Amino acid sequence: MFVSLWSILLLALCQLTLAEGMEKRASLTQVTNFGENSSGTKMYIYVPNKLAAKPAIIVAIHYCSGTAQAYYSGTPYATLAEQYGFIVIYPESPYSGTCWDVSSTAALTHNGGADSNSIANMVTYTIGKYGADSSRVFVTGSSSGAMMTNVLAATYPEMFAAGIAYSGVPAGCFYTGTVNGWNSTCSQGKISQTQNYWATVAKNMYPGYTGPRPKMRIHHGSADTTLYPQNYNETIKQWTGIFGYSTTPQQTIPNNPASPYTRYIYGANVEGVYGTGVTHNIKIFGDADMEWFGIKGGSTATTTAPSGTTTQATATSTAAPTTTTAAGGAQAQYGQCGGIGWTGSTTCASPYTCNVINSYISGGLANSVNRANYEL
Ligand SMILES: *[C@@H]1O[C@H](CO)[C@@H](O)[C@H](O)[C@H]1NC(C)=O
Ligand SMILES: *[C@@H]1O[C@H](CO)[C@@H](O)[C@H](O)[C@H]1NC(C)=O
Ligand SMILES: *[C@@H]1O[C@H](CO)[C@@H](O)[C@H](O)[C@H]1NC(C)=O
Repeated sequence: MFVSLWSILLLALCQLTLAEGMEKRASLTQVTNFGENSSGTKMYIYVPNKLAAKPAIIVAIHYCSGTAQAYYSGTPYATLAEQYGFIVIYPESPYSGTCWDVSSTAALTHNGGADSNSIANMVTYTIGKYGADSSRVFVTGSSSGAMMTNVLAATYPEMFAAGIAYSGVPAGCFYTGTVNGWNSTCSQGKISQTQNYWATVAKNMYPGYTGPRPKMRIHHGSADTTLYPQNYNETIKQWTGIFGYSTTPQQTIPNNPASPYTRYIYGANVEGVYGTGVTHNIKIFGDADMEWFGIKGGSTATTTAPSGTTTQATATSTAAPTTTTAAGGAQAQYGQCGGIGWTGSTTCASPYTCNVINSYISGGLANSVNRANYEL
């Protein structure tokens, strides 16, 4: 009797929910009305079947050549969302080659109107629509998405409680003054600056802001030849500079979250996870991420190695190469025309010429990042 009464009540609630136009749950869904979007960034959302009351939000940002769909299926966050009840926002780059704009002045400015601004608007939309917890908004990403993670932490420090960057560069390091530019000096790790320099660069992205800032964990591999490992050290300088920590770790934990990574604790708000011999194709540690975000219980200082392998994935396992080949075997604009392991055409359709500015790793994060002839 009671059971059937409750069933009827629940059914009525569900209909009400649907009538309000909630996005379909438990599948990746595009949202087209999230607000100001001058750079044309696309928004995809994953709302789990078991949505928590006042859910947390994780913004999960893809790498160059990636898509929202690829990052959704190639990372553990949607599976973890079902487990913990949070919402995942997967933004998608509007640019050919799908790198993020982390190089223009607009992108590097709070409310500057570029990709970073659009992503912030997605968060605001999601908080309003789902009653999400504005104090538990997190950001993570790989490669170009890790660059954007650092940029969002600097441009919207009031919005994010924590960030995790997998193989990125410091916020501002990719500056070129152009939209969606590529800064080789930075990617090749040729920039070595002081803590104060990097902290100032980050602070200048939101002048006058004095509130709290996200705690940051920085992952990088020592054998990264796409975004050289110096970028780890520079990013650590940026966030330790922000929080006033020394760049000498307070604690060093070998084989954590797992071999061959070492976890460095610089202070409560800044950690590094550095993989010896690890390339740009870096592993995502879903369980450790949950602890850093405070979604999963346990002190972040006593993180244990992730138990299962089900929630671990490399961001690239399902990423399909997106090389575009023009007729006659010549590559179209932005088509890949070289790089380590490249077996495709090395000629470009007129008027483009092959201009390799980075040697991308076959099968790695940056495979077929179609920037080889980015610069005409
Ligand atoms: C943002 O731009 C993309 C690409 O043009 C479009 O698909 C999407 O609907 C836009 N969203 C909003 C809120 O303007
Ligand atoms: C690349 O960034 C550095 C600072 O991060 C800057 O000094 C340099 O001018 C930039 N390169 C280009 C081509 O803009
Ligand atoms: C960068 O940081 C790593 C990890 O702490 C360290 O092994 C390496 O020596 C550092 N590189 C430089 C140039 O300081």
